[in-house]
Amino acid sequence: MSTWANLGLQDSASPLMEQLIFFHDHALLILVMITVLVGYLMFMLFFNNYVNRFLLHGQLIEMIWTILPAIILLFIAFPSLRLLYLLDEINEPSVTLKSIGHQWYWSYEYSDFNNIEFDSYMIPTNELSTDGFRLLDVDNRIVLPMNSQIRILVTAADVIHSWTIPALGVKVDGTPGRLNQTNFFMNRPGLFYGQCSEICGANHSFMPIVIESVPTNYFIKWISN
Ligand code: CUA
Repeated sequence: MSTWANLGLQDSASPLMEQLIFFHDHALLILVMITVLVGYLMFMLFFNNYVNRFLLHGQLIEMIWTILPAIILLFIAFPSLRLLYLLDEINEPSVTLKSIGHQWYWSYEYSDFNNIEFDSYMIPTNELSTDGFRLLDVDNRIVLPMNSQIRILVTAADVIHSWTIPALGVKVDGTPGRLNQTNFFMNRPGLFYGQCSEICGANHSFMPIVIESVPTNYFIKWISN
């Protein structure tokens, strides 16, 4: 989860989030180079005395500063497309979790395992234990095995919600009447926090998501309990 003074992205807990961070850094690097170049050009234009009274057009330079930015954009477009298809790829999932957005809580169904289903409400501040995270902890956490492909099916019962977990690079809208799909692979154990990120009403801020990433044998123990 995000802690104090963390202005960047959260540490990744999945290969897809790692790729998203690489792409973010790549795009930011290009952005910085463009900003520095344009800033330098503007600065120099303000403080020089060169005047060409007979300058009407310059075909060559116009060609250069039209085609060059187009080529630079390709360096963002192709990695972006690669990432898009990478995120969309479903790779033989071993567990499927169905998550349904409600105003204002999430409910979950493990359809593979005897149809286990439960609601997941935020723990209110006055009921929070001393080691709990305010506005972020829930009464019933999702438990999922690490090191396995996990498929998430997202939908909603009333209005549009969004099932979002930054550390896993997952963000899928839950839309009434539709079933959206995504997948992820958790490469370490831990607690991964997320929040609804589609403005869904008065208590939009109060429907967090918590995943317990555990080793597979722990997961089997939990699911058979
Ligand atoms: Cu559900 Cu915002």
